[in-house]
Amino acid sequence: MPQEFKLILKHADEPGYTPDIECYLRHGGYDALKKALALRSLDLPDGRKKSPQEQLRDDVKQAGLRGRGGAGFSCGLKWSFVDRKSGKPIYLICNADESEPGTFKDRQIIHKDPHQLIEGMIISCFANDVQLAYIYIRGEMPQGAKLLNRALQEARAKGFLGKNILGSGYNLEIHVHRGAGAYICGEETGLIESLEGKRAYPRIKPPYFPAVLGLYMCPTIVNNVETLCHVKHIVAMGAAEYAKLGTPNNTGTRIVSLSGHVQRPGYYEIEVGKVTLGELINDPNFGGGLREGRKLKAIIPGGSSSKVLKAGEKFKLKRKVDGKDVEQEVDLLDLPYDFDSLLQAGTMSGSSAIIVMDDSTDIVEVLANISKFYAHESCGQCTPCREGSLWMSKALHRLTHGQGRAEDADYLVKIANNIPGGRTICAFGEACSWPVQSFVAKFKDEFVAKGAADEEGRAKGKVEPKAAPAERKESATVA
Ligand SMILES: Cc1cc2nc3c(=O)[nH]c(=O)nc-3n(C[C@H](O)[C@H](O)[C@H](O)COP(=O)(O)O)c2cc1C
Ligand code: SF4
Repeated sequence: MPQEFKLILKHADEPGYTPDIECYLRHGGYDALKKALALRSLDLPDGRKKSPQEQLRDDVKQAGLRGRGGAGFSCGLKWSFVDRKSGKPIYLICNADESEPGTFKDRQIIHKDPHQLIEGMIISCFANDVQLAYIYIRGEMPQGAKLLNRALQEARAKGFLGKNILGSGYNLEIHVHRGAGAYICGEETGLIESLEGKRAYPRIKPPYFPAVLGLYMCPTIVNNVETLCHVKHIVAMGAAEYAKLGTPNNTGTRIVSLSGHVQRPGYYEIEVGKVTLGELINDPNFGGGLREGRKLKAIIPGGSSSKVLKAGEKFKLKRKVDGKDVEQEVDLLDLPYDFDSLLQAGTMSGSSAIIVMDDSTDIVEVLANISKFYAHESCGQCTPCREGSLWMSKALHRLTHGQGRAEDADYLVKIANNIPGGRTICAFGEACSWPVQSFVAKFKDEFVAKGAADEEGRAKGKVEPKAAPAERKESATVA
C-alpha cells in the first residue's frame, strides 16, 4: 500500500508538537545549521580550496532539489546563476505568498513548524553569502506572520540569527513582510516590486532576472517555503542520502494539497514519483476514493493554472528501463505524481495542488470560476493578458448565465491561444490560458451543448437569466 513519507511534516502533526523553539530543539532543531557552520574549506586536487559555501551549494545541486513553488526548476542551478561578483549585497526572499488556487501546503509548515523554515533559510543564506533575507507572506495569513515573527525572535535570542551566529562570524537578519493579498504577488518579480513598496507589477526578463537584478537591483534568490525547508534536510542527511528519496530527477518529498470530490481531502507528503495520481485519489491512506456512487470526471493536477486531465486519458511516457529509453502507455490514474511525468502528460505538477472533480461537476461552471479569478488578478500591464483574461471570463459568464452561443467554445480557444507564447511580461499569461485551452479541448461538447441550448432557448424566448454567481446556491462546482 502506498504510504505517506513524512520528511518536512515529520513532527508537525505529532500530538504535543508546538511551534516554539524549545520543542524544535528537542527534536534536533538547528543541528543542521550547526553542521553547516562547522564546515571547513576543502583542499581540491588542483590546489584550489572549496569553501563551505561552495560545498553547500554543490550539495543542493547534487541532491537534485527542484523548486516546490510551481516551475520545478533546479534549486542548485538557480543558486549558480547568482551574480557573486557585482560587489552588491545578495538577498534571499522566501516566497510564502501561497497564492495558487487549490494550494494549502506552505501554511502547514509556517503554522506548525516555523523554525524548520527559518533553519532552512539560514543555511541557504549562509550558502549564498546573504546577510539580509525576507519572508514575503500573503496578507490573509496573519497568524502565520505572527508565528514567524515570534519564531524569529526566539531564534535571535538563542544566537541562531543576528550578529556572529553561534560564534561563526556570520551575520544574518531575516524580516517578515506581509503582502496585501494578490495572486501576482506570488510571481517572483512582482513580489520583489511589492517588497520594494510598489505595486506588484512583474518585471520583464531579460534583463530583470532576480539572480542578477532583483531586490533593489541587487542579486536576489527567490525560493518557495517548502524548497527552503528541504535545504535543511539535505544538509542533515547528506546530498547522496537525500537523493535516494523520490525517483531519479524527481528527488525528495512533496506535500500535496488534495481537494475536491474525495472522501479525505487534505495535505499529504509523499516521495516524489513513488505514488500515482490514482493512489492519491483512491487509496485509504490518501484521498480515500470519490464520493459514494460517483465516477471520476477530471483532475486539475497542479493548481488552477495547470492543464486539466480527463478521466480515461492515456499518455505516452518516456522511461528508462535497463538503461534504455522506452515509451510506455500509461493510464491517467497510473501517472506517477512527479514533475516529469506530468510534463510528459502535457500538464504540470505546479504547486502540487490536486483538485478532483466527479461526474456531478459542471465543467463550464468550473472554468467560469477559474477564469473569473484570473480576470480579477491580472495586473493589467500587458494587453493580451489584461484584455484576454477579461474577454474569456465574460464569454464564460455568458455561457453560465443562459446567454451563451455554440461558437463560444472556439471563441474561447482563439483568445486563449493569443495570450501566451512570449506576448506577456510574466507567466500569468500562460496561467490564465492553459485552463481555457485544456478545458475546452477536452470537454468541447459540453461547452458547445451549453451554448447551443442557450441559443435555442433564446430563439424560443424561454431562457431566464440566472442570478449572479455569488447569489447562486452551492452547486457541484469545486474549483
Ligand atoms: C502568477 C504566478 C504566481 C505565483 N505564485 C507563487 C506562490 O504563491 N508561491 C510560490 O512559491 N511561487 C509562486 N510562483 C512562482 C514564483 O515566481 C517563483 O518561481 C518561485 O517562488 C520560485 O521558488 P522555487 O524555485 O523554490 O519553486 C508564481 C508564479 C506566477 C507566474
Ligand atoms: S502577463 Fe498579466 S499578470 Fe503578468 S505582467 Fe502581464 S498583465 Fe501582468
